[in-house]
Amino acid sequence: MDKKERLFELRKLLKQYNYEYHTLDKPTIPDSEYDALFRELKDLEAMFPEEYDPTSVTEHAGYEVLSEFKKVRHDKPMLSLDNVFSYAELKDWAKKIEDVYGAIDYAVEYKIDGLAMNLIYEDGKFLRAVTRGNGIEGEDVTSNVKTIASIPKAIPYQYRYEIRGEIYMPKASFETLNAARRQEGLEEFANPRNAAAGSIRQLDSRIAASRGLDGFWYYVPDDINASSHYDSLLYAKKLGFTINDTTRVMKDIDEIYTYIEKVITIRHDLPYEIDGIVIKVNDYRIQKELGFTSRVPKWAIAYKFPPEEASTIIEDIFITVGRTGKCTPNAKLKSVKLQGSTVSYATLHNEDNIRDKDIRINDTVIVRKAGDIIPEVVRSIKEKRDGSQVPYEFPNVCPVCGAKIYRLASEAAHYCINSECKAKIVEGIAHFASRGAMNIDGLGVKRVQQFYENGLIASFEDIYTLQAKKDLILALDKFKEKSYQNLIEAIENSKANSLEHLIFGLGIRQVGEKAAKILAAHFRHIDNIMNATKEDLSMINDIGDITAESIVDFFADEHNRAMINNFKLYGLNMTYQGSEIKESPFTNKTCVLTGSLSHFTRAEATDLLESLGAKVSSSVSKRTDYVIYGEAAGSKLTKAKELGVKTISEEEFKEMLGS
Ligand code: IVH
Repeated sequence: MDKKERLFELRKLLKQYNYEYHTLDKPTIPDSEYDALFRELKDLEAMFPEEYDPTSVTEHAGYEVLSEFKKVRHDKPMLSLDNVFSYAELKDWAKKIEDVYGAIDYAVEYKIDGLAMNLIYEDGKFLRAVTRGNGIEGEDVTSNVKTIASIPKAIPYQYRYEIRGEIYMPKASFETLNAARRQEGLEEFANPRNAAAGSIRQLDSRIAASRGLDGFWYYVPDDINASSHYDSLLYAKKLGFTINDTTRVMKDIDEIYTYIEKVITIRHDLPYEIDGIVIKVNDYRIQKELGFTSRVPKWAIAYKFPPEEASTIIEDIFITVGRTGKCTPNAKLKSVKLQGSTVSYATLHNEDNIRDKDIRINDTVIVRKAGDIIPEVVRSIKEKRDGSQVPYEFPNVCPVCGAKIYRLASEAAHYCINSECKAKIVEGIAHFASRGAMNIDGLGVKRVQQFYENGLIASFEDIYTLQAKKDLILALDKFKEKSYQNLIEAIENSKANSLEHLIFGLGIRQVGEKAAKILAAHFRHIDNIMNATKEDLSMINDIGDITAESIVDFFADEHNRAMINNFKLYGLNMTYQGSEIKESPFTNKTCVLTGSLSHFTRAEATDLLESLGAKVSSSVSKRTDYVIYGEAAGSKLTKAKELGVKTISEEEFKEMLGS
């Protein structure tokens, strides 16, 4: 295809995607792909100016207006924003401005992922709410927007007042809504933004009212009450509008970029979705001079976060069996680039998930990889089906050992309950040797599998017999003397581990790394844990009844007691060697960390608090004792204040640690 043909093809494609996104609230490609195609089209249009087409998506900001709502012409066009995707592009954008104006102030805001809305007030009364529409003309959705509690219905202002912002659906409302739709057998919304847009487009305003929508307000066109963007927001706040309180004024693009990087690490902790950071020239005078293009202001730019979603094809679905026997379905994907890595597999979680989302082999799907989270299949795109897709039949036997698999009534997962299942044994041993457990470097799943298949190990204890099997090991394919020495050394070193490592390694149900530490610190010696009753265990802070029962059951099993005895014979340490939990202002307190801390990573702060006997929780409630906040803290801090929970800044936290 030559470049011109591609240009025409892209114009057509992007019109279709625009329609699916804006009019149907049902996108068939991820935003990142849209952005990439949009840029490609822009570049081609620049190459062939003679092909100018005013109806191209690059020439106007919006989409077709649905006919059910009254159309309203905007006083001033409602524009979109240009995007940048890298530090270099951001710097370039700023340089052009700073070359003329020198160092200037920028307002830096979260880019809320919702739908743009224009609110109009007259004589202090809420007159109208209008969607962006095609940028010139939008839909009058006043009756729906009126149902949003945080939007003022009257303001102390006697002139006409126009304010623009974003209606969004908080993540919590989105989860509730989709769970209800699943129950009713209705198709789920793809994401909170589509759900918000779909809710605002309802003709019956009771529906919008029930959807838990909210709004942030971020732009007052030509505000006569202010001389800068930031001041106009403060004024709007005084009038009663919700302004996102993370908005700040900064001068230096490098500082802004550092801030962007920080926000990327905390965006998933926010109660609403953001897809970037908006940077706006703060001074109205400079804004006026810079002006607008037909689509976007020249005084603002959106820095879009790196994509977390991509579309690809499911080539196959297969089951893996974990150490507990849990059978997890996985998708083998046509490889796709996401967040800097190539993704070839994604989890499908369980049978219900596959059925509810109607995910089939050969389906085109959206995969998501957010931060360090395992990639998952978010949804399938039914529109892309060509008849070759077949629904997946969840197996009823373990793919590894062939035993029948079971599903507990209380759980969505299937389990292989055959204690001889190779997958369970191999995964169990690899877990025993893993970093948080006995920390034996060189005994990962692949190596354990090789040893197991060659009859060298079949249990945890067998690890400590490997030293006597040197010749057999060295006879294995690709096994070098050096690797053998390193392995034996790691095994020897593991014998000295503090007790919590052993307890975690045993893989007792419900006993994760944290519970293992609590048990070890409390009982100090394995014998005390083995002999503890359910009552003794339940009395410990943070050990619930189910965990207590699971521990008692584990040590009631003769095989397990014999295993511990063997460990003793092999010379494994059986005592807790950590320090006593020190009394501190945080002992027995429930703490929540929020925002980005500058002196600790989240994990460090959590470890520190736990070592002081605190419990670290992820959500704020009346039972929270302290909320420790860093920079760019959002809703958790607000909620703490609302609930009267004590809040502690990072500086105060450091002082308290010192005392
Ligand atoms: S300013 C003339 N600020 O992002 C300036 N827009 O992709 C108008 N958005 O159309 C927009 N958060 O719907 C602005 N803090 C923010 C925003 C924001 C989200 C949306 C808005 C805009 C779209 C562009």
